Amino acid sequence: MRMPDGFLWGGATAANQCEGAYNVDGRGLSSVDVVPFGPDRMKVARGEMKMLACDDAHTYPAHQAIDMYHHYKEDIALMAGMGFKCYRLSIAWTRILPNGDDDTPNAAGVAFYRSLFEECHKYGIEPLVTICHFDTPIALIKKYGGWKDRRMIDAFLKYCRVLFENYGDLVKYWLTFNEINMLLHMPFMGAGLVFEEGENVRQVQYQAAHHELIASAKAVQLAHELMPGCMVGCMLAAGQYYPYTCDPADVYKAMECDRDNYFFIDVQVRGAYPVWAKKRMEQAGVVLDTRPGDEEILARGTVDFVSFSYYSSRCISADPEVLKNKARGNAVVKAVVNPYLKSSEWGWQIDPQGLRLTLNTLYDRYGKPLFIVENGLGAQDTVEADGSIHDPYRIDYMRQHIKAMLEAVNLDGIPLMGYTCWGCIDLVSASTGEMKKRYGMIYVDKHNDGTGTLARSKKDSYYWYKKVIETNGEDL
Ligand code: BG6
Repeated sequence: MRMPDGFLWGGATAANQCEGAYNVDGRGLSSVDVVPFGPDRMKVARGEMKMLACDDAHTYPAHQAIDMYHHYKEDIALMAGMGFKCYRLSIAWTRILPNGDDDTPNAAGVAFYRSLFEECHKYGIEPLVTICHFDTPIALIKKYGGWKDRRMIDAFLKYCRVLFENYGDLVKYWLTFNEINMLLHMPFMGAGLVFEEGENVRQVQYQAAHHELIASAKAVQLAHELMPGCMVGCMLAAGQYYPYTCDPADVYKAMECDRDNYFFIDVQVRGAYPVWAKKRMEQAGVVLDTRPGDEEILARGTVDFVSFSYYSSRCISADPEVLKNKARGNAVVKAVVNPYLKSSEWGWQIDPQGLRLTLNTLYDRYGKPLFIVENGLGAQDTVEADGSIHDPYRIDYMRQHIKAMLEAVNLDGIPLMGYTCWGCIDLVSASTGEMKKRYGMIYVDKHNDGTGTLARSKKDSYYWYKKVIETNGEDL
């Protein structure tokens, strides 16, 4: 089995997890810059702890990351060496607009991404750009409380306009918000939200989501107007919920959990809130503040394709006893251990067949072209005395997932635009801030304690993935 010609094979990164240079060339401070390493990380990411500046008591992995800001030419050449057809990256909002809503863009920031995109095209690599990947400008969090406030929509649109006007000739594929459903699990990362005592957390989250959805719909319209022929997608942290047993209560629970996940992209793809979403909000005591015209905006700004990350499936039960056996993974707290699956070192359960299932489910639900924009295994690697890095576990994970993807395309007929594996080059983990949780086929000599030469080298998986791309998936 092979993928169709023109399939976009590649890899994916996010600005805050790889660029570093957080205060260089006029870049403003962003939410992710103040998310520390260590025990406070998740508290900040979840909006339970306010941290709008850096302090000496913490270290901040995003500050240097793997310093891709200064290594991007070398890194893109390495990606080209694997035969990449596509590179998914995100733009750091505060590199373009340091305060999030400046009237004049930061020229150095604009020039940086232009040069990066030109570098991609030099090798025939198509950039796929995430406009907002877990970053909200700190200045806007201070001014508005992040996406709680409707004025964020205009700021976002201003930022989008700069991107579309400057890069429309170089970038055809865009995503508005990374893993928009993660707003429910990591609200500071997803929307710059910090909760006040006594606040109805769900109210704040759904209100912020509404603002992001309106912003996304307007961005889609603006993109189509300024860049005819471009394609704009939504992005879901996917992974279907399985009922723990065939007890109808478990089956119903699984459907409900899935709906919580689809909530956001249902709006982005279908252009309206689903009926059950309104009821679910009502039951949570949520009253959305909407404006006349919002429904039309959502209806007119539907996306062209559906992209998603897939690391694992999830399993859920209605039985409180079973729920005690919680599984870890992708910051999603509501999942129990599936006894049929093995787990990664970080407890993320490995389920290649779940990818085929997810592809089928998403296509049945939306009927839009799909794009797998994240998939991979976070694992520790060992550098041998001769500098080689043997990572058969990563090859095995990718082989099984790519096989499932080939089956979905060849045997089920699912239209799939591309596959960009996550963290094709080692980078900072979003959930733990670690460097030792590595996803890359390109190794970076950088460690949890901040030491390392930043030198890049090729793992065994580098040569394996090169062969997969060369044969369009035939030789796994
Ligand atoms: C996704 C994010 O949730 O999963 C990435 O879009 C993230 O930013 C990736 O890095 C893997 O998660 P982690 O926590 O292992 O880095």
